[in-house]
Formats: sequence, C-alpha cells, structure tokens
Amino acid sequence: MFAVHLMAFYFTKLKEDQIKKVDRFLYHMRLSDETLLDIMARFQAEMEKGLGKDTNPTASVKMLPTFVRAIPDGSENGEFLSLDLGGSKFRVLKVQVSEEGKRNVQMESQFYPTPNEIIRGNGSELFEYVADCLADFMKTKELQHKKLPLGFTFSFPCRQTKLEEGVLLSWTKKFKARGVQDTDVVSRLTKAMKKHKDLDVDILALVNDTVGTMMTCAYDDPYCEVGVIIGTGTNACYMEDMSNIDLVEGDEGRMCINTEWGAFGDDGALEDIRTEFDRELDLGSLNPGKQLFEKMISGLYLGELVRLILLKMAKAGLLFIETQHVAAMEKEILVDLGLEPSEADCIAVQHVCTIVSFRSANLCAAALAAILTRLRENKKLARLRTTVGMDGTLYKIHPQYPKRLHKVVRRLVPNCDVRFLLSESGSTKGAAMVTAVASRVQAQRKQIDEVLALFRLTREQLVGVQGRMRAELEYGLKKKTQALATVKMLPTYVYGMPDGTEKGKFLALDLGGTNFRVPPGGEYRREFCLFDHIVQCIADFLDYMGLKRSAAAFGFTFSFPCRQMSIDKGTLIGWTKGFKATDCEGEDVVDMLREAIKRRNEFDLDIVAVVNDTVGTMMTCGYEDPNCEIGLIAGTGSNMCYMEEMRNIELVDGDEGKMCINTEWGGFGDNGCIDDIRTQYDKEVDEGSLNPGKQRYEKMTSGMYLGEIVRQILIDLTKQGLLFRGQISERLRTRGIFETKFLSQIESDRLALLQVRRILQQLGLDSTCEDSIVVKEVCGAVSRRAAQLCGAGLAAIVEKRREDQGLEHLRITVGVDGTLYKLHPHFSRVLQETVKELAPQCDVTFMLSEDGSGKGAALITAVAKRFQQSRKEN
Ligand code: BG6
Ligand code: BG6
Ligand code: GLC
Ligand code: GLC
Repeated sequence: MFAVHLMAFYFTKLKEDQIKKVDRFLYHMRLSDETLLDIMARFQAEMEKGLGKDTNPTASVKMLPTFVRAIPDGSENGEFLSLDLGGSKFRVLKVQVSEEGKRNVQMESQFYPTPNEIIRGNGSELFEYVADCLADFMKTKELQHKKLPLGFTFSFPCRQTKLEEGVLLSWTKKFKARGVQDTDVVSRLTKAMKKHKDLDVDILALVNDTVGTMMTCAYDDPYCEVGVIIGTGTNACYMEDMSNIDLVEGDEGRMCINTEWGAFGDDGALEDIRTEFDRELDLGSLNPGKQLFEKMISGLYLGELVRLILLKMAKAGLLFIETQHVAAMEKEILVDLGLEPSEADCIAVQHVCTIVSFRSANLCAAALAAILTRLRENKKLARLRTTVGMDGTLYKIHPQYPKRLHKVVRRLVPNCDVRFLLSESGSTKGAAMVTAVASRVQAQRKQIDEVLALFRLTREQLVGVQGRMRAELEYGLKKKTQALATVKMLPTYVYGMPDGTEKGKFLALDLGGTNFRVPPGGEYRREFCLFDHIVQCIADFLDYMGLKRSAAAFGFTFSFPCRQMSIDKGTLIGWTKGFKATDCEGEDVVDMLREAIKRRNEFDLDIVAVVNDTVGTMMTCGYEDPNCEIGLIAGTGSNMCYMEEMRNIELVDGDEGKMCINTEWGGFGDNGCIDDIRTQYDKEVDEGSLNPGKQRYEKMTSGMYLGEIVRQILIDLTKQGLLFRGQISERLRTRGIFETKFLSQIESDRLALLQVRRILQQLGLDSTCEDSIVVKEVCGAVSRRAAQLCGAGLAAIVEKRREDQGLEHLRITVGVDGTLYKLHPHFSRVLQETVKELAPQCDVTFMLSEDGSGKGAALITAVAKRFQQSRKEN
C-alpha cells in the first residue's frame, strides 16, 4: 500500500516550514477532539437509527444482525472448513478445535489469488472459482472423503435472517461481480459446490470478518465483545442487547451486530468533514457515493488519497516533484518509478501521509468510542472494562496507527478501560467457533425433527385410518360384532331433524364439555356429590330465572357414552375425559338425576330427553340447515354422530326411516388397531389418564389430551437437553397445564415469538426464545396430526353415507362444536382439507354451532314432548 510504504521513509532532519506548509494546505483534514466528539455523537445516533425497525430502511449504517449470540465458552470442538473471502487475501482453511476446553486450535491454510477478472466478472463464475479452490484444497489435504461443516467468512454487508444465509446488500472494496447483489451468497456457493461430485460440505455459518475477528479474540479473552477491521476496508461489530434489536424477535441475551460503519456518511452526515480529495477519490471509485466513511479510513483508499493531495500540491507549486510523476504514481510503485525526491519533498510527502493516516485513526477512534459508550450504557455501568479484537493490514503494518488509535479512543471515552487485542490468526478461528456452535445446534435440531417426524402422517397412513374407522363403524352396527366393537355406535332414539313446528319453553342442561365442569377434588360419590352438585346448579338457575314452580320440560345434554333404550333413558357405559365419579357407571343417568332432585325436594323437573352433545349439535345446526346429518365435537373430547338408515341398525327394530347414531368414535383403536401410529408420547398420556387403555383415538385428537401430548414431548426433549436448558421444572411435571386455549394461542400466526414466550412464562415455563420456537413447533405437529386423524374419521363416515345411498356424489352438512375446532387457528382448516382429500366425492359443508348443543337438546325435548303427549292422548 502506497501510504504505508511511504511512512517507512525515515528522515532525521525535519524542515519546519515544509511541515507548516502542508499543515496549512491540509488544515481541513486535521480533526480536533471537539470535532471527534461531535462525530462520535453522530455515529451514536446512526446506530440507533440502524437498529430501529422503522428507521432501518433509510439508515446508512445498516447495523446488521448476525445471528451470532454468544462468544465462545471453550466447549466448542470439532473439525471445520473455512473460507475467508473479502480481505486482501483469499484463504481456504481447515480448523481443528480441540475438545475438553483445552483451548487448542490448529489450522492449515492455503492462499489463493483473486484476479480482477474473477472478482469483477460474472457472479456465478466467482462462486465457481471459490468452489474450485475449496475442492483443490480438499484434494491437497486429502479431505475429500470427509463431510465437514464449513464456516464462510465473507467480508461484505449481508442481510441475514439466520446464521446460514445472507443476502448481499452491495459489494464494497475491490469486488464488483455481476448478479450477486440481492442474492443469498450461501446458496450461491452451495450451488457452485454441487458441480464437484466429491465435495460434501455443509455451509453452517456465514460470518463477517469483524465477527470472525471478535470471536477469535474472544476465544482467548472472554471480555472481548467488539471486533474492528482496519484493512482493505474498515468495519466493526459488537455485542448488542437483543431487546434493542428491533429486526430480530426475542429480547433476551445478546446478539452480535455487524455495524457496516464503512457506509457512515452515505446520507450526507459527514459532508462537513469530507474534503475535495475525498470527493475526487469517491468519484473515481468502483462504488461512487458509497462507503464514504470507509473511503476516509481504509487501506484500499489512503494511498490514492495521498496521491490526489500530492497532485494538487504539485500543481500549486508546493512540491518540486513534477506533476506528471505524481499523477503517474500507482500504488506501491513510487520506488519503481525511480523518483528522486528532494529532502524537502520527502518531508512534505511524509507529512501528508501522517495527516491522512492520523485522520483515519481519529475517525475510527470516534466511531469506536461511540460503540464503547453504547456498550457501557447498555450495561448501565459507570466504568466499562472491555476488550476490542483488532485485525486488518493497515492496523497491523502501520507503525504509528495502533498507538494513535488507542490514545484517541482513551481520550474520547475516559470511562472505558479498553484492551486492544490483535487477532493473530485472522477471523477464521472465530468463524470456526461460530460454526462449531452452529453444528451443535444442527445436531440438536435433527433430534427435534426426529421427534416431530413421528407426528407427520403420510397420505397412506391416513387412508389406512379411514379404512379401519369404516370397518369399525360397520362392526358397531352389526348384532354379531357389536359387543366387541370399539366404536360403539349407540342408537339415540332421535329419529328426525326438527321440522320447524317445535315450540314452547324448554330447559336444557349441558354437562360434559369444557364448561360446567366438575368442581375440583377428583372423585365423587354418586348420591352425594356429582348429581347433587348438578341439581344445586339447576336450583340456582331456576331461582335466577324465577322458574322454580313451573316443572318445565327438560333436556339433559350428557356428553358421555350412554346405552339408550329410549329417548329418556341412558345407562352410562363408562366415564370419559376428566370425569370419574364413582358408582355411576352402569346406572341410568336420568334416574340418578331424578333421585338427586327428589333428595333436594325443592322443585320438580320433567326430564324428557337425554342427549349426547354431538346429537345436540347436529340438531342445533339441523334447525338452520336440513342437510345437516352429522354432528361433530372437537373439544375437550372428540366424538361424532350421524343419521343412519334404520335398516342398518341391527340393534333397533324397524327398517323405516333413519335414526341418529352416537358413534362414540373416541374409543376407536382401543383394540390396538391404530397402534402403528401411536407414539411413545401417546402411550404416556394414556397411562397417566383417568381411563388407561380407553379412548385411544380421542386421546390423539381432542383438546384435553393434545396439551398432554405436548407436555410429554417437552419433557422428553428437556431430558435430552434440547429444551429449557435441560431443566424439568415442577410446572412441566404438572398434568393439564396446556389447556386447549393455550395451545390455540401459542399456535396463532399473529403472535410474535415474544408473546409465545410470555404465555409459556405465564404457564410457569421459563423459556428462551429458541425454546419458544420449539414449543410452537411441537404444538403445531401435535394439533395437525389431531386434525388429520379427525378428518380421516369424518371421511370414513361421509363416504359410508354416500355409498349407502348409492350416490355418485354426496352433499352433506356437518354441524360442529367444541373449543378445539372453534379456538384453534389451524385445526378446522386442516380437518376440512383432509376430508376433501380423502373423500373427494363428497361435498362437505361445515357449520359451526353458535348456540352450543343446548338448543338442539331443547328441540329434541320439544319433539319428544309432543310425542309423549300424543301417546298419552291415544
Ligand atoms: C484477515 C482476516 O486477517 O484480515 C480476514 O482473516 C479479514 O477475514 C482481513 O478480512 C482484513 O484485513 P485486510 O487488510 O486483509 O483487508
Ligand atoms: C358446547 C356444547 O358448545 O361444546 C357442549 O354446548 C359440548 O354440549 C361442548 O360438550 C364441546 O366442546 P368443549 O370444548 O367444551 O368440550
Ligand atoms: C467492508 C465490508 C465489510 C467488511 C470490511 C472489512 O467495509 O463492507 O463487510 O467487514 O470491509 O473487511
Ligand atoms: C367424549 C364422550 C362423548 C362426547 C365427547 C365430546 O368422547 O365420550 O360422549 O360426545 O367426549 O364431548
């Protein structure tokens, strides 16, 4: 570099007037501390602007998030490849980071040339060239057979959304290859590598040289949290608090920001500082108007700056060197030119160089002082002790540069104790640290993916489920197979849909969904607890409505499997979901309710019908849409009912018309027929439930259990050290913490990660943002499978209805209710998509029951009451 070489000239005798002359001529380049403090303040404002979401698009200092979150902790290990492109030299390296915190790094490297026709030619050829060099390196080092992770040090401004991706914002320095700007350089290089069949490398990290430098230095000095390059180009990075980085979700911990300070002033912020020489230099550069700060500082430009100054001085007669000689000066050829400057000229030239390089150091110091102040303020410290990792040929080779820089920084920020640490091994060692962390993350990701894959069902698997459900539906209807069927296909004695003539006042009670829950405390004895509690609630309601004396007709929505012999009789087969009151199973629920009313002896009720919630839902919707012949609940539990031809129902006499069948499909799979898709987590949930071995399909599809499956997965991932820092908290051990509403909130697309994290924190799960991402994914996998399984079941029933009626095409409406269907952001969509996919000949309309199943139960009560009366009259 011209300026650097000139500095090496040694003069013993200084001629004061020469110096004064130059000083006067370059007055504008000598920056006072006052000016530097002013520049420092401007850079502080620029950083603020670059970090803000709204202000970033117009900010010239881009403050790019790097997705490097932590400095090395010594636990990094492994063997890595590394590319170092963008500084004065292009290198390919192999880095071996030793294990067990011995802080031992071995590197083998090879330099490759970067001819102008490559770095300013066609972009694809540039990446092919880089890939060729890598292939050559692997061949000479005999590494072809190895699959190694690669860290790519790429010293240009890239917008990253993750560590292994970066869109080039613009070329800087000497590079200007066509068609690369605005593309992801990692995928470009990956593509170029594909041409080499024997290359099997995975680019895990894209790292700016400042970041690599900081990490290299941090490996030896954990206080290092800033990286500065003063070489061909100039730039700095530092560790910023996540809460200040608007462009990246999450607010905990820190992330390294690549400031790209070289572009400081591109918006005119430094016009008062720039001189006519800076303007002239800029006009003749590869990127006019860009990197204006860099052009006042870095090695690539200082020589040219000196040349322009000398040229002007020669023209003004201030130098005795002939103008043509100065004009002909190119970098590094002063001596070759055989110029024989006079001593006075030499002194003048040297002094020009001093002024130019001191200005450079001063400007760097001002910007660095701004970063240090920011760090100190972020940490709310009166005094900051920190280390700055340094690299770049100008800083390394120039004899006075470091001293000048250090001195000015210390003067500008007297409340910072700064150690400047030279990166001896370039930025590669640091890039390897970043890659090591990335490769650990990748391995962990693989483990997480393996778990999630268990929940991904293929189309074939879903078709299989549909087929088996179909078979079970048939078994349940047949006398011979009914006893052993897992899908019980219970006749409901509801024969028809409401016809609109129903009128009168009816009461309905709705027990078994999320609301009207059993009071806490676990188990209840029949006589004195559950039903008395229900009656108590009815009494309160009647009081409130002033209906105690009316002995109104009453429909009882009871959302559990009941074997019915008539509309007002139902024997509880077994509790499901969260209920387990003793002495109820095998008993008639209407009788139990009547007895409890009698015991209370306060009011009378005419219980006319006992109705499953699916049936109530179908009737509610059927009131609006006569085509509604299916009722579906996807809530706390999961179940479906539908209108079946009487002739198919072998358990009930008569062949005319239809009757509603409560399938109780929740029991599907209790004979093991879907065990091939049940995971260890499903089994754990089953074992921890109130009814082990029962309701296996329900336990994979309904709200009460999805949260439990999620919890089991989270426990497992935590045990594997993949979540919650490997700590299983008491909360995570608590059954039932993930209610449907939380699942739904967590999976909402509108929710930012931070909000997910807040929900988890509300649940007592102290999670990081990475944890929150994983939790959200787990929830997504579990709920998606649930919706698909539910869809496969529904597809079985609509296909059955279509075939039974001998139709080419069936149009049918499904009345739906349940918190999972209603609240979850994706469940209903996935369910509908699955039905469409698996039953393409059926045109299924989904109708949400807005009024719950109570309205339907009342309608059934009205019909039954009319029937009862007409029977009495006859
Ligand atoms: C090297 C680093 O030591 O310094 C490179 O390994 C970096 O990543 C370079 O780009 C910067 O200095 P220069 O002077 O080569 O641009
Ligand atoms: C309600 C119905 O709307 O939904 C209940 O009125 C039904 O009868 C319930 O049991 C089902 O949903 P969840 O989510 O409350 O179990
Ligand atoms: C240029 C690049 C920047 C790099 C610096 C030092 O300013 O834009 O990314 O860090 O040079 O090499
Ligand atoms: C359970 C019950 C069933 C009910 C469903 C939805 O599966 O057994 O009767 O319909 O939950 O609430």
